Amino acid sequence: MFLQRYLAPVLLLTVQIYKARSCHEFTDLDLSDAIIGTDVKVNLLLYTRENATCATLLSHANLSTHPHFNLSRPSIFVIHGYRPTGSPPVWLRDLTEVLLNRSDSNIIVVDWNHGAANVNYFKSVENTHKTADNLTAFIKAMKDNGASLSSIHMIGISLGAHISGFVGANLNGAIGRITGLDPAGPTFTGKPPDARLDPTDAQFVDVLHTDIDSLGFRKPLGHIDFYPNGGTDQPGCPKTILSGGSYLKCDHQRSVFLFLESLNQRCVSRAFPCSSYEEFLDGNCINCDRFGAAGCPIFGYDITAWKDVLLELYQTKVYFTTNEQSPFCRTNYKVEVMIWNKKVRWGYLTVKLYGDGGEEAVATIDHKQLEFKKYTVTSLLGQFDKEISSVKKVSLKFSTGNVLKPTYKLRILRVRLTSLEQKHRPLCRYDVLLEENKEVTFKPISCEESNF
Ligand SMILES: *[C@@H]1O[C@H](CO)[C@@H](O)[C@H](O)[C@H]1NC(C)=O
Ligand SMILES: *[C@@H]1O[C@H](CO)[C@@H](O)[C@H](O)[C@H]1NC(C)=O
Ligand SMILES: *[C@@H]1O[C@H](CO)[C@@H](O)[C@H](O)[C@H]1NC(C)=O
Ligand SMILES: *[C@@H]1O[C@H](CO)[C@@H](O)[C@H](O)[C@H]1NC(C)=O
Ligand SMILES: *[C@@H]1O[C@H](CO)[C@@H](O)[C@H](O)[C@H]1NC(C)=O
Repeated sequence: MFLQRYLAPVLLLTVQIYKARSCHEFTDLDLSDAIIGTDVKVNLLLYTRENATCATLLSHANLSTHPHFNLSRPSIFVIHGYRPTGSPPVWLRDLTEVLLNRSDSNIIVVDWNHGAANVNYFKSVENTHKTADNLTAFIKAMKDNGASLSSIHMIGISLGAHISGFVGANLNGAIGRITGLDPAGPTFTGKPPDARLDPTDAQFVDVLHTDIDSLGFRKPLGHIDFYPNGGTDQPGCPKTILSGGSYLKCDHQRSVFLFLESLNQRCVSRAFPCSSYEEFLDGNCINCDRFGAAGCPIFGYDITAWKDVLLELYQTKVYFTTNEQSPFCRTNYKVEVMIWNKKVRWGYLTVKLYGDGGEEAVATIDHKQLEFKKYTVTSLLGQFDKEISSVKKVSLKFSTGNVLKPTYKLRILRVRLTSLEQKHRPLCRYDVLLEENKEVTFKPISCEESNF
């Protein structure tokens, strides 16, 4: 009696401590490991809805040892990239949590830090093949235990994107989906498809490029390739090495933060198929007819809604721009301006939209000097930093970059704003005089179709 009374709580406590300690952590290495180099080890950390913050280490040998590893559920593998200092990735916890929030799956974080942490990048590249072979064996075992390959989604970051590609190729492209987040460029650029990620590696391959001029891969690798901000310099990232340590990885890492935001569904980034980023900024690629009622593809996790049409097109390059920080999404409008000045005018345009509660969205169209010509429609792409659901007022400002003696005027016959979300009716205004560098605010009215 005495023993039972006192031992039971002690036992319970022991079990709880054991449970608390049984959360498996991502391998934390330090710079000295990265300098010496370590052999490849592939730790598989399972997260499920049963406990989204506590990982279980999966056994490679016996897949039925873990009651929560349910092979009737879909599985999402998250595969990190090169870890020059050996530290765990900062986005790990957020990514597993939001993935579980969106999908009742087995989230398997592939911890190949032993292998990825090496000051010698080329050694880590070599290790991608060993890691891929190890994962292939594990996924084959999953299949033998009843998992369906088409319910497997691999999310690979940087080197991890190519690992996903190798695994996919080993399994003859039967895996459901591979998402490549800024696939690594160095040593992979120029290689044939079997030596890198390519569209035949899975039933559907979607890729995000955020650092094509440095650590990322420039050419398309999937069925759809997203190039936010042209895929090079991401807004909000330091432009020179003098700005600090994040200079090297900021553009590259942005890919993970953009994908995370698409999982959160805070807002959407619509992306437009185009032959180049310049053409896109010029507003020449806003036609989304080929995608039917769904419109142009929305970047991120939910791109599978466009899967059928994208597979038909085989490879599609799409562009969008982002804000400097979260929320990254922007809202697009077609901005059409017709002037009646006798002479051609060149300059830039800033458009602001004001909502009910005084909220304000800004689009600055200044990627190049815009040309305005008498009685000719100049069609521009206005990308606003946020969405205004009900636009009450609009302001326009014309500038030429001339600060000392602003003297030009833009005599606008008509300006028309059309939301590319197609939810709202176009907004118009007729007869507005813009003096250089002076903002003019007005209430938009509905457009007169008959006149133009
Ligand atoms: C998840 O596991 C941790 C550590 O064992 C524990 O503290 C937490 O309460 C668990 N959460 C749930 C929902 O079981
Ligand atoms: C994969 O790696 C794990 C741990 O690093 C090891 O235990 C397992 O045997 C490997 N599997 C294969 C098929 O090499
Ligand atoms: C695998 O693990 C389960 C559960 O722990 C056990 O019942 C089974 O015997 C193991 N199988 C092998 C081959 O070790
Ligand atoms: C495994 O998942 C399936 C599908 O979600 C579910 O129906 C089944 O009950 C689960 N099995 C266990 C043992 O939790
Ligand atoms: C989970 O998803 C819901 C609905 O999409 C959202 O409101 C909530 O903030 C999400 N939670 C996390 C932790 O992402």
